Amino acid sequence: MTTDDFPTDEPAVVTCGLPYANGDLHVGHLRGYTAADAFNRALNRIGQDSIYVCGSDMHGTPVAVNAWKEGVSPEEFALEWHEQYAETFPKFDVDFDNYGHTHDETNTELTRDIVRTLEDEGYVEERTIEVAWDPEEDQALPDRYVEGTCPYCGEHARGDECDEGCGRHLEPGEIVDPVSTITGNPAEYREREHKFFTVSKLADFLTEFLDGLEGTDNARNQPRQWIEEGLQDWCITRDLDWGIDYPAAEGSEAEGDGADADDLVLYVWVDAPIEYISSTKQYSERVGADEYDWEEAWKGSKLDGADGDGEAGEIVHFIGRDIIQHHTIFWPAMLHVAGYDTPRAVCATGFITINGKGLSTSRNRAIWAQEYLDEGFHPDLLRYYLTTNGGLQQDIDFAWEKFADRVNGELVGTLGNFCYRGTLFAHRNYDGTPDATVSEEVEAEIEDAIEAFRTAVNEYDVRGIGTAPVELARFGNEYIQRNEPWSLVDDEPEAAAQVIYDCVQLAKACAVLAEPVMPGKAEELWTQLGEKDSVHDVELEAALEAPSAEFDEPSELFEGVEDERVEELDAKLADRVAAADDAADAEDAAAVETDDADAATAADGEGAADADRTDEEAPDDLEPVLEDRISFEEFQGLDLRVGRIETAEGIEGADELVKLTVDIGVETRQIVAGLKQLHDVDELPGTKVIVMANLEAAELFGETSDGMVLAAGEQADLLTTYEDAVPGERVR
Ligand code: 2FM
Ligand code: ZN
Repeated sequence: MTTDDFPTDEPAVVTCGLPYANGDLHVGHLRGYTAADAFNRALNRIGQDSIYVCGSDMHGTPVAVNAWKEGVSPEEFALEWHEQYAETFPKFDVDFDNYGHTHDETNTELTRDIVRTLEDEGYVEERTIEVAWDPEEDQALPDRYVEGTCPYCGEHARGDECDEGCGRHLEPGEIVDPVSTITGNPAEYREREHKFFTVSKLADFLTEFLDGLEGTDNARNQPRQWIEEGLQDWCITRDLDWGIDYPAAEGSEAEGDGADADDLVLYVWVDAPIEYISSTKQYSERVGADEYDWEEAWKGSKLDGADGDGEAGEIVHFIGRDIIQHHTIFWPAMLHVAGYDTPRAVCATGFITINGKGLSTSRNRAIWAQEYLDEGFHPDLLRYYLTTNGGLQQDIDFAWEKFADRVNGELVGTLGNFCYRGTLFAHRNYDGTPDATVSEEVEAEIEDAIEAFRTAVNEYDVRGIGTAPVELARFGNEYIQRNEPWSLVDDEPEAAAQVIYDCVQLAKACAVLAEPVMPGKAEELWTQLGEKDSVHDVELEAALEAPSAEFDEPSELFEGVEDERVEELDAKLADRVAAADDAADAEDAAAVETDDADAATAADGEGAADADRTDEEAPDDLEPVLEDRISFEEFQGLDLRVGRIETAEGIEGADELVKLTVDIGVETRQIVAGLKQLHDVDELPGTKVIVMANLEAAELFGETSDGMVLAAGEQADLLTTYEDAVPGERVR
């Protein structure tokens, strides 16, 4: 890795978080895969040698639990999903240079090799710990086989992840009030021997790594906080049949079959990221190291002398923000100890909501990848929507209406409209590009667009990459309108030819700039312009090369989405969500009636709890919005701050009130709040809240309340922030 701007002389490798091979792909997955695909294509467009690799995540309880529910072996189950993913990604032009899986030989070998190195370097310790155990089934309950309460924030959590609360990784034995997801019984804790990677020894290394890390802010700020709070060592083994066996020490008796006598498997989060390297290696083996050398990419800094130039490769990870800890703490720690280079950038994307509510696979509130294609939409429309609807870190909402608005406005109305009117005029009047050279004004505009594109790449700003061609087309529409070639063509043919030449040049530049986010449409436009070869192979400079002298009559690039179509799609979505809700309610009722906890509590896929949280219908007695508007200055007069509750205790004689101390960065406040209805007082400390800080102090039940904690609804649902805002930051 260099700190130079892209393009550099080192090979780059772009990756995206591996999908668990356990269910259908949906827009939530596609957001990450399309963003990373666009970024890799953009790197290539600016002349960076870069590949995009990924693979299916086959191991761990996310796969084992779902396979068990289907009654098939995890291997058979995961392979089937893997094959489906390998067929689906290309349909969205997600163009992996290699798509492997974590259970293949390359990854199994490499994982064992890396774990042995961690041991050899003295970073693995065996410890006796308590693991959750199902007394009825007499089996260990790793990770998703157990759920309970997060010890940090008090939210409901899975065994290895606080998926509904603070997002922390949870170590075995940490979850409070554990319940088996197999039987629904309270779990016991039993002592077992496990292997730990001593990450706590690497705090200084990780702090330095984070200081140099590029990508999104959230991927630096959250881990800095975790390091400050003190790093825990990481349990890297599980009592499970499915996974990569913990490797025996080299030369030991057990080494022959690759397995350790203890029969522990590696925690899925050990072998999953290693697939990034394995997949790169497989690509190198296929194309030859002369074309792309995986070791230059992953170990470049160690290959000085005859082998290389001593520079690390450019490793760029795209991930969901729920897995920042794995990619900015555990993964760089493993890479460092095992002798590999660490990533240049980690880009952590926000989540997707559907019509403003949490995406829930179990409630069928999702737009499925195959469903989208079956509706007959071009993949580029979704790629454009997902990559440009917000910055990478932001949560984005998918609604068919919003999708239609952006397709109709930006793609049909701006990009498609400009390219079609310019090229149609050119074809009809000149059979292609008229004889001229590009004007200074248009040349400068294209150069600026190229510069903006390069800047976007260097800032990991995928939205900026995606909107570049649309902005250029916006200029094109204004340019053609201003110069009216149709009124020049008879009397001032040279001036008309100049304008139309410029328009064709602009359309060509749009094709080059659109390639990363809309590869299919960019190629279509490129072909319409009579260009040779493929837009996938050119670099940005092609945007300013002379356009082809001849081309056929063009056709419109994009088709609009009608209002009726939106209504139809909304109705379909609403119907299937309602059907899934009914089915889930019936299942819950049956579970209560028969006390069949088995059915009710078996891990329900991601977002199940989200669905519960977000399915509430709005009450029908909502107050109308106040008619009196306030000015922006008046709004600025409200000093709203991010705070963190430090202590909470009930107030004698007051049924609903709690006395809080809240850290608001600049000071600590005592605030009295009516929170007892929804909240367990003991679990409030640690919760991030929004505080109205310049409210007059008041006296309640003999206690001073110096500020107000904001909450909504009858149940005092606390307002909070979800990313890295820290106490004291103002809400604006
Ligand atoms: O969270 C997930 O969906 C994991 N399957 C991501 C793994 S990414 C990596 F590290 F391999
Ligand atoms: Zn938590």
